[in-house]
Amino acid sequence: MWTPPERIRHRLPPPEWPTAEQAAAARLFSPVRIGPLTARQRTWVPAMVPWRATEEGFVTDDVVDWYARFASGRPGALVVEATGIRDVPSGPLLRIGDDRFVPGLRRLVEAVRRASGGETLLFVQLIDFLAVRRRPAREKFFGRHLALVPRHREALARLLGDARWLDAPEADVREALSAVEDARLPEVLSARELEALRMGHRERVTDVHLPHVRDLPRVLPGLFADAAARAVRAGFDGVELHYAHAYTMASFLSRANDRADGYGGSEAGRLRLPLEVYGAVRALVGADRAVGVRFLGDEVVEGGSRIEDAVAYGLAFARAGFDFLSLSKGGKFDDAKQPEVGWAAYPYTGRSGYECMPTVISDARGPFGRNVHLAAEIRRALRREGFTTPVVAAGGIGNFALAEGVLQRGDADIVASARQSLADPDWFLKARLGLGSQVRCCTYTNYCEALDQKHAQVTCKLWDRLDRDSQGVPMSADGKRRLVPPPWSPP
Ligand SMILES: Cc1cc2nc3c(=O)[nH]c(=O)nc-3n(C[C@H](O)[C@H](O)[C@H](O)COP(=O)(O)O)c2cc1C
Ligand code: SF4
Repeated sequence: MWTPPERIRHRLPPPEWPTAEQAAAARLFSPVRIGPLTARQRTWVPAMVPWRATEEGFVTDDVVDWYARFASGRPGALVVEATGIRDVPSGPLLRIGDDRFVPGLRRLVEAVRRASGGETLLFVQLIDFLAVRRRPAREKFFGRHLALVPRHREALARLLGDARWLDAPEADVREALSAVEDARLPEVLSARELEALRMGHRERVTDVHLPHVRDLPRVLPGLFADAAARAVRAGFDGVELHYAHAYTMASFLSRANDRADGYGGSEAGRLRLPLEVYGAVRALVGADRAVGVRFLGDEVVEGGSRIEDAVAYGLAFARAGFDFLSLSKGGKFDDAKQPEVGWAAYPYTGRSGYECMPTVISDARGPFGRNVHLAAEIRRALRREGFTTPVVAAGGIGNFALAEGVLQRGDADIVASARQSLADPDWFLKARLGLGSQVRCCTYTNYCEALDQKHAQVTCKLWDRLDRDSQGVPMSADGKRRLVPPPWSPP
């Protein structure tokens, strides 16, 4: 992962845990309205992909165990990982693009209800993404992938000073292109072709010459709505529409979206599809479940949306009727590191990825509560306009004092903790019971994120080697790591 050049190593904030009496009076453990629902407390486990579904996207026992384990800490709300709305293979990521996925998801819901004693609201994050191909070997790219057009021949003729290339046999042209030295490739390939060679081909929402991309505004409202209806049938309390990071809907919102078909360009154009998707989802979900959104307070890439845009999006989402706004930051492909040959680019490897999941090796600002100001600015704008929509803040908020401070200052209504909840899913419960000294504190060094990057089952370094020999402990595919933290129960 990219690291700020300052490379300042931050120490974890001194743990300041409340007594049970202080916790009882804390805003963190007070209820909050989320549209038609009430969360019993303002603690939230945001979506985290653990790579535990089957290759076909079905819920497995490991998926059920994973979410039940988070639920046993009884957070106010738990959001199930980004779950694909299409009925297309996408590796071991959960899917919800067909009715056959509903029974498995229902099993997950029931396990969460049991483990949380019915105290935790359960949402599922609905995602659409476009094709991202693996980085090809050079010979493969020039031999097969590159769609040869006259422009390539002309460039080659110019570069090599030989008009013979204008009508040379295709195989010879491909071979000659393949032999062009790296530094001169920009003279023969377009920017997108260069990117396909160096990073792997990646579709964009602006590729309107591709019929399936052109038609996204026609198909996505129905796909999202049908997926949301399945979530309701499976028993979820609501859905979170994934409009964040590197995926389709975030790309529609992005300032970089210059589609000229009414679904890009101006702010209203960029918001059009996200609002149409919301309308279609709400129509099928009904008023008794929550429909929320996760979006970016800042894309952190050149030419991308900034906080000013995000404030406008937040207002538009509140006006439309979203029940909660969950803020994230960055996580884009645009600045991702070059993957190895045979691997796909991963959107959390560049600066924008750092901002999404900041580590303790940082700049002067450090990782703790790093992105709260974005949520705060959006919340202020909402309240100014009279909207009461709850705002969820995330990013390096992993202890009581930090979380309570965010809420007391009115920077957000709910605090989401991803990595701290992974490090210790009981941390809310421990804090609430006055047992904060027993919390296993996340070190924010991103071992978990590195596993995610390799598409390996995600675990935490603080517990995945503990007590592995006990009977019935589910282990990772390599047999080395336990898949859920050891159980904990209050004394
Ligand atoms: C392993 C892992 C998987 C993640 N998967 C998702 C995801 O599916 N959807 C999403 O919106 N964010 C995802 N995130 C980002 C988190 O929800 C969260 O925004 C981020 O980690 C910052 O919060 P934290 O500092 O509390 O960890 C993931 C984070 C991690 C560490
Ligand atoms: S692996 Fe590291 S960063 Fe991830 S949850 Fe555990 S301690 Fe935190």
